[in-house]
Amino acid sequence: MKHQDGVALEVHQLKKVFRDRGACEVRAVDGISFRVAPGEVVGLLGPNGAGKTTTIKCILGLIRPTSGQVAIFGREVASHYPGILSQVSAVLEGSRNLYWRMTVWENIEFFTGIHGLPQREHRRYFEHLVERFGLADKRDVEVRRLSQGMKQKTAVVCALAELTPIVFLDEPTLGLDVETSYELRETLKDLAREEMRTVVLSSHNMDVVQDVCQRVIIMSAGRVVADDSIEHLMALFRTRAYRLVLRGPLPEGLQAALAAHFPGLEVQSTPYMTHMRLRLPGPDDIYVLMDLLRDAGARIEEISQEEPDLEKVFLEIVRKERVNQCNS
Ligand SMILES: Nc1ncnc2c1ncn2[C@@H]1O[C@H](COP(=O)(O)OP(=O)(O)OP(=O)(O)O)[C@@H](O)[C@H]1O
Ligand SMILES: [Mg+2]
Repeated sequence: MKHQDGVALEVHQLKKVFRDRGACEVRAVDGISFRVAPGEVVGLLGPNGAGKTTTIKCILGLIRPTSGQVAIFGREVASHYPGILSQVSAVLEGSRNLYWRMTVWENIEFFTGIHGLPQREHRRYFEHLVERFGLADKRDVEVRRLSQGMKQKTAVVCALAELTPIVFLDEPTLGLDVETSYELRETLKDLAREEMRTVVLSSHNMDVVQDVCQRVIIMSAGRVVADDSIEHLMALFRTRAYRLVLRGPLPEGLQAALAAHFPGLEVQSTPYMTHMRLRLPGPDDIYVLMDLLRDAGARIEEISQEEPDLEKVFLEIVRKERVNQCNS
């Protein structure tokens, strides 16, 4: 399972143009390139129609790209198809890749069988997955009799059970309840950490992506508009905004003193509590702030730096990109 050297996945100048009966054409994927290292967990983000699913389908050889290349562990997918698929498993949007008249367990046996996994050897791992995803009491139930979320979980379990070095998950948390969504996050983290598996995860659920992925690739209108570590993206969007809570009303004269020093001051005050938000652009501003608060006799209950979350970063990047597209 360990492929520590080299590149797990390489996408080079990938392009997919759909032509609808000669009428208009859709540039679903417009010349994108990226690499994923073994053991990396990458989030593929983008608004509806950005080209995420099309990209994943092209990588898996399910649709033929208009141009460009995809390589898995250095072997080009097009010229090693379908053998190369033994290296990858996938859950595509929805859970159509299951046999609905077979039970949960039969589906696991069937899909792992296709991948040539010795059933007896891996039985414990399959059971571990079934347990982890809360499907133990449903393992002998036909998939068609499961709830939507359970079908989705079964699809994810089947993909993970195949033990391939690369796993693609397109919207895996769709329809999952809070607890299962949490379990999926924890399982994905374990997969990367303990099993060195490479995961490409597309999701609109930013909490999941922020929690699980080290890096995100953001697509918009078929192009890659950001490809960076989550940590770096957060740092880029950190505004040095702070939130303060003071006990009691705002001391007289403090608002004017603060407004003179700090941009973007916002104050909400009641006789019991004062909430403030302000920006501290310079590294010494925190000392100035503390001096002003002390001189005014303010009693600080809480002070915290406002952290951007992935959702805000994502929206900012995608909106900026839309403005650029409109202007060009
Ligand atoms: N089979 C197809 N025929 C024609 N156009 C298609 C086809 N599949 C996708 N498209 C178009 O390609 C574009 C990208 O679609 P895609 O499904 O890749 O987006 P996505 O990023 O996965 O979106 P979502 O977040 O909604 O899942 C869209 O404009 C879509 O209408
Ligand atoms: Mg999609």
